Amino acid sequence: MTPDDKRPGVQPHVVVLFGATGDLARRKLLPGLFHLAISRLAPDMRIIGTSLDDIDDDRFRELVIEACRKFSRRPASSEQHERFAQLVSYVPQNKGAGALSSAVQAASATLQGPARLLHYLSVPPAAASAVIRMLETAGLVKESRVIMEKPFGTDLESAQKLNATIHTAFTESQIFRIDHFLGKEPAMNILAFRFANGFIEPIWNRTFIDHVQIDVPERLSIEGRAAFYEPTGAFRDMVVTHLFQVLAFVAMEPPTALAPGPISEEKTKVFRSMLPLNPDNVVRAQYQGYRSEPGVSAESETETFIALKCEIDNWRWAGVPFYLRTGKSMAEGQRIISIAFRDPPRSMFPSDCGVGTRGPDHLTFDLADDSKMSMSFYGKRPGPGMLLDKQSMQFGLKDTADADDVLEAYERLILDAMHGDRTLFTTAQGIERLWELSAPLLDNPPPLHTYEAGSWGPAVINELIEPRTWRLPFERPWRADT
Ligand code: BG6
Repeated sequence: MTPDDKRPGVQPHVVVLFGATGDLARRKLLPGLFHLAISRLAPDMRIIGTSLDDIDDDRFRELVIEACRKFSRRPASSEQHERFAQLVSYVPQNKGAGALSSAVQAASATLQGPARLLHYLSVPPAAASAVIRMLETAGLVKESRVIMEKPFGTDLESAQKLNATIHTAFTESQIFRIDHFLGKEPAMNILAFRFANGFIEPIWNRTFIDHVQIDVPERLSIEGRAAFYEPTGAFRDMVVTHLFQVLAFVAMEPPTALAPGPISEEKTKVFRSMLPLNPDNVVRAQYQGYRSEPGVSAESETETFIALKCEIDNWRWAGVPFYLRTGKSMAEGQRIISIAFRDPPRSMFPSDCGVGTRGPDHLTFDLADDSKMSMSFYGKRPGPGMLLDKQSMQFGLKDTADADDVLEAYERLILDAMHGDRTLFTTAQGIERLWELSAPLLDNPPPLHTYEAGSWGPAVINELIEPRTWRLPFERPWRADT
């Protein structure tokens, strides 16, 4: 991975977007491509949308403009939207491989130089093999790249099958399995913070760290996505993909270089050292009212919430629990990584002076778009005597001069794929290992609890973490000025 201004410009691209009328395409992918196209980042591209919907170019262009207007995070003019819409065209999937191939040729011919092909498969795994066959028949595989969306299977067997199917057409080096959490600016900042500073690595281990929490409660419910969510649930939707990937960034050894090989090697080593999930260390729950959501079965056993403890059995982390939690319809939307440090071995402070009463010292990363970090510690309360308070140092991305340059996770990752940079993408091997670790839980899921929508989950999660406590809800909110 090189700084963007040191990378050669992106080659002209034709992006073939499968699932082009779907939710993800409208919310993230089309607005992301819009930004890449109108900015200097990937100026020369054409987009061919395709999906099962039988619509024409004009209708698709309307949909694209609507999506960009509604979901783009940056202000843009109608003229920019119109200009972008002229870069897109549409081929209904039922028109077949020939139509797609002609559309790609026509789009390539309008570009400034030889075009590179990037296929974006925003389709469910069951549809992936038909799409891959279509690309083969259309002659669109050679020298192309393909971005795959999760879920990468639903268990080890289906993941292996899916990988085998993709590998019939594409080599691993052409495949970019996207996990948008790794494209979030603050997730990459974990790497910067850990490996660009000399002071942190010496204490980043079991001697100094008591436990780690990766906590991603969501206020959103399933937002009409029952067809996807019912067979998926919180574990497959969020943990196997996003939370475990973030955990790997927190736990990995220093890679030999900031490059795809060394980074995936270290991530895979973390997954290799992780102990298989013990169902006794997992709490599954469903929010009350989930079964009445449109499209959800009245007997649904799908979890909309999960909290679990996992362990990494290596020299750095043996005995340090990692607690993960995520769920829908919870009290707040947060994306927190919290590193809790051990207490000092002895205290010279009298027990009634406040020491230790507000939990351990914490280093906190907030993975929200408006990213923040904080270090909390005990310090002296001003005034006579010796009373201690929990104090903190905070850093917010907004404090930097470059806050406006933040790319949305999808923008960043699509751009990386255009550059052929796989550093932030996951590998077949890594994914399969995660399913292997998940097998005991999937084979033997613990009973489903319920929780009130708008809460922090069922009370039993407190037993999971005892004698420690969940960091959220925060005792003190982030300071408003960061
Ligand atoms: C998606 C999940 O991958 O990530 C959604 O399918 C979830 O269920 C979303 O809401 C969370 O992503 P973000 O970037 O909004 O935190």
